[in-house]
Amino acid sequence: MVHLSLLATLVATVSLVQAQCGSGTPAAKVTGSGSSFTATKGSTNVYTGSDYRAAIQAALDSISSGQRVSVIASGSIGANTITISSGKIFEGCGTINVGNKSGRGAIESLNTQGVQIPYLTMTGNPYFGLRFYGTKDLVLGKITMNLSGGLGIRFDRDNPGSTNVKMDTISVTGAGSHAVETWNIDGLTITSVIAKNVGESGLLLQKTTNAKVGLVDGNNVGAGTGYATFRMANNNGQLASGAYTTNVFIDKVVSRGGGRGVFCVSQSGGVEIKAIDLASNGNNAILIENCYGVKINGGTVSGGGEVRISARTEFPNTKDISITATVNDNTVRESPCADNSTWKISGNAKLSIC
Ligand SMILES: *[C@@H]1O[C@H](CO)[C@@H](O)[C@H](O)[C@H]1NC(C)=O
Ligand SMILES: *[C@@H]1O[C@H](CO)[C@@H](O)[C@H](O)[C@H]1NC(C)=O
Ligand SMILES: *[C@@H]1O[C@H](CO)[C@@H](O)[C@H](O)[C@H]1NC(C)=O
Repeated sequence: MVHLSLLATLVATVSLVQAQCGSGTPAAKVTGSGSSFTATKGSTNVYTGSDYRAAIQAALDSISSGQRVSVIASGSIGANTITISSGKIFEGCGTINVGNKSGRGAIESLNTQGVQIPYLTMTGNPYFGLRFYGTKDLVLGKITMNLSGGLGIRFDRDNPGSTNVKMDTISVTGAGSHAVETWNIDGLTITSVIAKNVGESGLLLQKTTNAKVGLVDGNNVGAGTGYATFRMANNNGQLASGAYTTNVFIDKVVSRGGGRGVFCVSQSGGVEIKAIDLASNGNNAILIENCYGVKINGGTVSGGGEVRISARTEFPNTKDISITATVNDNTVRESPCADNSTWKISGNAKLSIC
């Protein structure tokens, strides 16, 4: 009996995420197209009209915590914001086109607990596609953003932090700024961030601790800038105690072209990257500048801008760095010398290290 009730609990938990967007029996749905949309909660109509955003918000406002809305219709919300409150499950099955509402997210969930967005397809040029702060137990599933500008997913800098954030596969194309930018998260798990033709960073972590990321994959990310496929900045990985004990774990960073490959700056660190695969980066393939506790355990750098350990005088010197990699058709430079740096470099790269 104990086992049966445990199984029932597991099944109930797992069944919150449907195998397909809109499958099963969502509590509310948005259907329609063009200038005619309908939102229903069960068999009750909660919106009929031409305003796609109003239909979506009416559906969301009609459900209770623990219930799900499936937006089957595609449409445009314009320069507006959809708000998701605690415990609600939001599925964007159609394509949600969005506009630019200055300083705001096209979809926001602020100071909430247990919100889930298992599926979302977004197009347009949002200021922020998804914007969050003060969330607890937020789950993002398969999120696809095919943008013509703006920033994909943003966790705010100047607002309350978030804990226990999970993301599955985040694919962002065409953002003018970052694909995913975090501030102030303690406890972050991401399966993958795939960024293509993005103006600034692929994944940018700031003041984020206890993070586990599978893959960061950038193609033409941050071209002509100092941003990177994977950037850590502003005390990322520094624990509340001030220590840089390893607490940010990345399985793999892949980067092609664009600006930098891996960039750690401004007193970040506490990070271990298991493997890199970087090629033809327009700026430094790797730049570690005023960071503490950075390990790169293996992989390849092929061409691109130089692999560099550096430091500016405004912060304490770079320290406790260990880089193992095969580097070809490039140079590896350490200047100024870091404290406690270990290089294990194979390949034909020219070395200028301490
Ligand atoms: C992304 O959008 C562009 C135009 O905005 C379109 O040409 C392309 O097919 C879209 N790609 C995907 C994967 O939706
Ligand atoms: C959004 O509008 C603001 C001005 O209100 C502008 O600065 C910003 O570049 C715009 N972003 C996009 C993605 O169009
Ligand atoms: C030197 O740095 C490595 C990481 O590369 C770290 O594991 C080790 O503890 C550091 N040694 C000292 C003496 O701090």
